Amino acid sequence: MRVGVFDSGIGGLTVVKSLLEHQLFAEIIYFGDTARVPYGIKDKTTIVRYAIEAVEFFKNFELDLIIVACNTVSAHALEEMKEASSCPVIGVVEAGVLATANALKNKNSNVLILGTKATINSKAYEIGLKTEGFYNLQAKATGLFVPIVEEEIYEGEVLEATFKHYFKTITAPDAIILGCTHFPLISEALQNYFSKTSLLIHSGDAIVEYLEKEFELKNRYKNPKLEFFASESPDSLKNIAKKWLDI
Ligand code: DGL
Repeated sequence: MRVGVFDSGIGGLTVVKSLLEHQLFAEIIYFGDTARVPYGIKDKTTIVRYAIEAVEFFKNFELDLIIVACNTVSAHALEEMKEASSCPVIGVVEAGVLATANALKNKNSNVLILGTKATINSKAYEIGLKTEGFYNLQAKATGLFVPIVEEEIYEGEVLEATFKHYFKTITAPDAIILGCTHFPLISEALQNYFSKTSLLIHSGDAIVEYLEKEFELKNRYKNPKLEFFASESPDSLKNIAKKWLDI
């Protein structure tokens, strides 16, 4: 299968990392809209417009599937992307909800949803989790983590101060949904702040779980063909990919 992975910028590489670890695809074509990131502070109309442009971009390749690695786009524009695309389109929100439901047997579990402003405002995770029977939910927009991670700050004072700022009124959760591409990079710091026993839901692992269940992906590809495209500074995206994905 040849798959397209779409993100607003570089963050979706965390999802590519999971895809590579599980060797699911023969070819991965990544597109990051680095010229217009962040999407997480934009409104739905703009997010949908950009997302449809990404579908148009992917029409240059004969794809079998588009994976929306971006939580913000998955929360706001998945249906519109499906309508515009000739191949299936799947997103990380549904996958994250199902991964949470599979992992937590107790419906009373306290689930903390973290994401960009746009993701949290959409209530997409909350709606999905409520449909799965969860009701003990906390949600917090934590957009500052995006530039912090892009500064390669994964621990220390700046992050601690930001945790204190955001989590003043948050009670220690049983599970944390890392509802943004960047947040897996601070997962260790988040667990140190809350509790090492909090379950973390990572979009990349969730999408792998979803793919393995929904699509019959029997073959494994040790050396998939990888191509990286960006709407701005493609070389910088390629360098980050080399570093994050160890390629
Ligand atoms: N990729 C976005 C997400 O997962 C984070 C960066 C942005 O705001 O565009 O929501």
